[in-house]
Amino acid sequence: MPKLFVGMKVFRKTADLKAYLKGRKNVGFVPTMGALHEGHLSLIKRCADENETCVVSVFVNPTQFNDKNDLKNYPRTEEADLALLRSNGCDAAFLPSVDEIYPEEDTRVFNFGAIADVMEGVRRPGHFNGVAQVVSRLFDIVKPERAYFGEKDFQQIAIVKEMVRQLGFAVEIVPCPIVREESGLAKSSRNTLLSADEKEKAALIYRTLRESVNFASEMTVAQVKKWVVDTINANPIMEVEYYEIVDGRTLQSIEKWSDADYVVGCITVYCGEKRIRLIDNIAYKI
Ligand code: PAF
Repeated sequence: MPKLFVGMKVFRKTADLKAYLKGRKNVGFVPTMGALHEGHLSLIKRCADENETCVVSVFVNPTQFNDKNDLKNYPRTEEADLALLRSNGCDAAFLPSVDEIYPEEDTRVFNFGAIADVMEGVRRPGHFNGVAQVVSRLFDIVKPERAYFGEKDFQQIAIVKEMVRQLGFAVEIVPCPIVREESGLAKSSRNTLLSADEKEKAALIYRTLRESVNFASEMTVAQVKKWVVDTINANPIMEVEYYEIVDGRTLQSIEKWSDADYVVGCITVYCGEKRIRLIDNIAYKI
């Protein structure tokens, strides 16, 4: 039976959201940091389709920023976000203050082992610990049956799944495909920080990844990695921070294509005058 949409509720206090959710089963949840774009909207629409109640949080979580400038400059677009949530099937929007989420400092230190010791985990110390802190707090409040995450943040999904396993949450983590601009550039809140010209040029990232899949079978893993890095770095406004080709389950780098049956290439590139950090990934073997 189609869901009856009775209008979205907006909550800023944990106690009020908990009271609204009390007794509800079949709650789906999309955690976000706002500045919503079509990538988020695909998660929200899917959550609304698959659950009786769709909850979306908008909270720029300070504990996951290892760079305070990045936290300060993170785009905040509350009014536009609320309008998009209203028109995309969200039943309850949760916009807490920092004090509401962290009434006391969260001093928990998670140990995620090898999956956190590579890629983003190495370049952004403390980032995944902060993600685990906030997502676990939000799961405690919302108690969702399903939670939706975008595959652009490939390593984040592995971390969240491990956090769910360690803390014993009864929630299904639902990974959702990357949404792209027509040019192929992965949608991201950070794209708004690029100029129009930089945004156009940044399409090179996905174009290169996709091309590399076509000839992967004729090259070694090391050759593909080098080709991707060199091709992107040949553009003067771009600098690859890392390109890792990993086992999609363990996130550890592979040396030979036969080392894993699920193989993913994960990239981070600094782009443009403001050196905006863009991430993307592509599957070589699924
Ligand atoms: O992916 C994000 O936007 C954030 O890391 C998340 C999951 C909302 C936690 O703050």
